[in-house]
Formats: sequence, C-alpha cells, structure tokens
Amino acid sequence: MYKLIDGREISAAVKNNIADQVAQLAQKGITTGLAVIIVGDDPASKVYVGSKKRACAELGIKSEEYALPADTTQEQLLDIIAQLNMRSDINGILCQLPLPKHIDEKTVIDAILPSKDVDAFHPVNVGRIMIGDFDFLPCTPAGIMEMLKYSQIDVEGKHCVVIGRSNIVGKPMAMLMLHKNATVTICHSKTQNLAEICRQADILVAAVGRAKFVTADMVKDGAVVIDVGMNRPDGKLCGDVDFDSVAEKCSAITPVPGGVGPMTIAMLMQNTLTAAKRQNNI
Ligand code: GUN
Repeated sequence: MYKLIDGREISAAVKNNIADQVAQLAQKGITTGLAVIIVGDDPASKVYVGSKKRACAELGIKSEEYALPADTTQEQLLDIIAQLNMRSDINGILCQLPLPKHIDEKTVIDAILPSKDVDAFHPVNVGRIMIGDFDFLPCTPAGIMEMLKYSQIDVEGKHCVVIGRSNIVGKPMAMLMLHKNATVTICHSKTQNLAEICRQADILVAAVGRAKFVTADMVKDGAVVIDVGMNRPDGKLCGDVDFDSVAEKCSAITPVPGGVGPMTIAMLMQNTLTAAKRQNNI
C-alpha cells in the first residue's frame, strides 16, 4: 500500500507559517509585496498567475498584476521591470514564462534585480544555488524537498533519478538533492536505457512534460515517485506519471493535481517573504 504525499496539506502548513511571519512584519509597518507580470494570454499561464495572486491574498501579501498584451515590446517590458526594481513596496518580481517569441527570456530574467528575483532564475541566484549559499529557493525543487522532509523521506545516500534537465526544475532539483547528500542521476531525451536507470531509483522525479510518460516497468518496488508534470492532453490536468499503474509499486507518490503544484506556489510565497525580510535588513 502506498502513501499519498498530499501537496495541499503540506502547502497549507507551510503557508500558515508564512502568514504568521507576514503578519509580524506588518506589525513593524513592513508590507510584503509581489509584482506578477504576464504577457499575452496563454491559458495555462493565466491559471498559474491566478493561483499565485490567490495565495498572496490568503497570506496577507500585497500582489500587483501587470497583464500585458501579447504585442508588448521587449523595451516596454524592461521599462516596467526597471520601475518595479526601484520600488521599495515591491519586494518580489515574477515574470511568468513562457514569453511571446519576440521577447528574449534571458534578457528579461537578467533585468530583474537578483534581490527581487523570487523565481530564483537570475544567473546570480542560479550560481548561488549551485554552491549551496542561497536565499531564494528554486520554487518547484524546493517544494519537492519540503514534501520529502514533511513525509520523513530522507534523501541522504539514496539514488535519486531526475528525468528532465530544465533550468527551472531538473537542474536545480538535482542540485538540492546533491546538497542533501543524495547520489543523483539526471536523465533526458537523449538518455540511453532510460527505463533501466529509472528502475534503479530510490526516489524518481518526473519532470518531462509528457503525459503518463513514466510507466510501471520504469519503477522499482518501494520507490518514491514525485510527479512534476502539468499536462493537459485533452484539457484535463494530468501528470508525467501513469499514476494508476505506478502507484501500486511505490512506497509513496504525489498526485496530480494536488501534489507538487501547490508546493511550488507555497515556496514562491516563502521567497517573497525572504525578499521582504532581506530588503528590510531582517
Ligand atoms: N512558467 C512555468 N513555471 C514557472 C515558474 O515557476 N515561474 C515563472 N515565472 N514562470 C513559469
């Protein structure tokens, strides 16, 4: 029988703690503020941005949304970021990705002040994560580490296999697990013998972006499986793991929805709080 790792329950506990700290800052006259920028009308991005704004409202964090049309120029976007960088009432700046093709994501990420980069996408923050000396947590990987900790699953000495090497999830996930003394393998689309490597995993993290990619034959008996997928093949949200066949083999597994997704948002709130504290020398 597997244990279901409930991201909604764990994120609620994390968010309660953040709300308390936001309230303590408010008592000192410090507001915590997040600016959320979205360019164009990608439906999935709109859903994510809506969830981020709702979480801010729940926790007493002020959120300011910039919903910009798809034909916004890169210069206009950079202007808005420059203004937000200078505002003392905005502690965190998040620009929802992907951006329209005429805008260079790297230039936009580089324009956000590292001290307000609550996604931890700026090269300065990525570098700090690499060396293990960081303030801002990479949200999705940090959410996964928090879920494992809450579920009393120790990664030390374990073989952790991460499928996916994105800058947002795969690479920082591997790094956080390595910092906790796991043995880490990163797999990707060119990996040979993928199923065989996955079968060696004590903890398997699926961040592929393909619905039901991980099947039962890729999972060792008793493994822990973490599903980062947010696929909508027929409009319905579906993970990267074929839950129905895989779950029976696991000691623990995350569902989609209600697994990693809510944790990512909780960690974004944590970063926004951290930004507010640092900017006020707390
Ligand atoms: N697009 C998909 N995931 C993310 C995320 O974590 N942050 C931002 N800014 N954009 C995303």
